[in-house]
Amino acid sequence: MKFFVDTADTSEIKDLAATGLLDGVTTNPSLILKSGRPMREVIEEICALVEGPVSAEVTATEADAMIAEGRKLAGIADNIAIKLPLTLDGLKACRALTDDGHMVNVTLCFSANQALLAAKAGASFISPFIGRLDDVHVDGMELIREIRVIYDNYAFDTEVLAASIRSANHVKDCALAGADVATVPPAVLKGLVKHPLTDKGLEQFLADWAKTGQSIL
Ligand code: E4P
Repeated sequence: MKFFVDTADTSEIKDLAATGLLDGVTTNPSLILKSGRPMREVIEEICALVEGPVSAEVTATEADAMIAEGRKLAGIADNIAIKLPLTLDGLKACRALTDDGHMVNVTLCFSANQALLAAKAGASFISPFIGRLDDVHVDGMELIREIRVIYDNYAFDTEVLAASIRSANHVKDCALAGADVATVPPAVLKGLVKHPLTDKGLEQFLADWAKTGQSIL
């Protein structure tokens, strides 16, 4: 499973890119607001930090305007994935922009039928929002499982990009359900490495090694 980080905070992205574990980045208008910076400047900086897809979201709601915004965003860098909302206009824009040869990430997906439409519109990525479904007492992970089956049934090559991830368990369950990508907040991504038994075991090994008085180098 690929890991994208869900943030517009470039210092977090720089840190994570240095680990070699980062396959891409997703942003949205709320994350741009949180960054407090101009969108174009932030997206340009992110695209220079990460080789993989960087999602930048349009804000128009009518297809022709979405297409114009999408083309402008795609001009920022070769690794831009244009993010479009899952509406009829968004799907129309998805077809036009994928026909242009651009990557498109269709976002705000909350049902398997919506995901089916996005795949038929040629989306490179579909973003089902797990956490927001959990928030309204619907099992978000079940949606990932359903989309996986549908895409496999018809050999769609749209990648399932699990979004709105809130916890380490979400990440594990996405991997078990066969999501192609998980976009994860920086704190959750960094937290995946942690286990108290790892810390305890390492402490013991280092203490015992010190007692040997040896050195490897
Ligand atoms: C990713 O593409 C989405 O914008 C993001 O995961 C939404 O997450 P949230 O529900 O925590 O805002």
